[in-house]
Amino acid sequence: MTYTDAYKKLERYGQLHVLQYYDQLTDVQKTALLSQIETTDFSVLSSREKEAGKREERGVITPMPAMELCEIEKRRKELQRTGLEAIKAGKVGAVLLAGGMGTRLGSDAPKGMYDIGITKPMYIFERLIANTMEVVEMSGAWIPFFIMTSDKNHEATVKFFEEKDYFGYEKEYIFFFRQEMAPASDYNGKVYMEEKGKISTSPNGNGGWFVSMERSGVGRKMRELGVEWLNVFAVDNVLQRIADPCFVGAVIASGCASGSKVVRKAARDEKVGVMCLEDGRPSIIEYYELTDELMDAKDAKGEPAYNFGAILNYLFRLKDLDTIMDNKLPLHVVEKKIPCLDAQGSLIKPESPNGYKYEQLVLDMIHELDSCLPYEVVREKEFAPIKNKTGIDSVESARILLQNNGVVL
Ligand code: UTP
Repeated sequence: MTYTDAYKKLERYGQLHVLQYYDQLTDVQKTALLSQIETTDFSVLSSREKEAGKREERGVITPMPAMELCEIEKRRKELQRTGLEAIKAGKVGAVLLAGGMGTRLGSDAPKGMYDIGITKPMYIFERLIANTMEVVEMSGAWIPFFIMTSDKNHEATVKFFEEKDYFGYEKEYIFFFRQEMAPASDYNGKVYMEEKGKISTSPNGNGGWFVSMERSGVGRKMRELGVEWLNVFAVDNVLQRIADPCFVGAVIASGCASGSKVVRKAARDEKVGVMCLEDGRPSIIEYYELTDELMDAKDAKGEPAYNFGAILNYLFRLKDLDTIMDNKLPLHVVEKKIPCLDAQGSLIKPESPNGYKYEQLVLDMIHELDSCLPYEVVREKEFAPIKNKTGIDSVESARILLQNNGVVL
């Protein structure tokens, strides 16, 4: 892109300040900046005019029944058999969403490299691989394991896996791909600069995983391997079951296009998105969108009607993902701490939020698909997210949960 074209593009989006240091840059830096301006989608910035964190108006919300523990127990053998058949046939892949910045944990390294061990090293990535190995051993088949990184943590993540010899996983079955980036801005929608010749960007949210997977070429590999189902999960839940045969079997048997592992809410106002129907389609409503009326609504059995929180462990049928590939997911505007240049051109790392990031979320994919099976799991056995260092959803709480489940740390 020429300087003139870049100028015109920035002018259109009110972002001319991006060129303020242009004259101080080397030729290489100039070319890099022009190319970044060319590839950056500045249209996302207009979403901040909507209230931060809120998405567009919701449709009509009604309860969505889940497959509950008692039914799963009754049908466990049959469901497990169905799931294992699919896994053995190579039809199930795993997608680890590890492109996030993990800012709440406060480590500069990728979150999966965090050591949660007590008497010996135990990395988050190591736990996730160990959990997957259990199913590999049970089924006798390697599960293609796709890892989404971002520009911010790709090299470190790949190097870590190499150094650790993939924690014993067959490396032919591990595939890395990068997610795309989005510009980060101040509260007025002016993009921040992280260097004089570089716009500040951050990963575009975990909702971009499928598009990024396809664009990176890893999608082709997945198809060659014969994958038909993808188990998509977050990096930070160290207790989760990956490619859980019973879950896979339950979703296949249900005929649904997707499945979502859910836990019964611990409190009416627990900060977890809950499964519901929105205008008759499956959906996940965020905790801050749940009105008192919805929180207190009861079903026919007198139980809370919106009681199943999604734990970010989904199963998607590949052929259905193909049909929604081009659908635009809503953009979430999230307040975050964004490292940026100050007025003097020096880099600062803010202590408190100073602007917005723009993200698409995987949970919104559920609403794009025609059907979803909410599948209940036992919280104490499958849900130990690590978001913070201490307190709720922390390294501390996850350690206790792991030990309660017999994991030696
Ligand atoms: P979180 O919402 O916890 O975000 O991500 P985060 O970036 O990891 O952490 P904070 O909010 O900065 O503390 C949930 C899951 O989605 C992945 C994360 O890696 C995690 O597995 N994720 C998030 C991505 O893969 N890409 C993103 O752009 C954002």
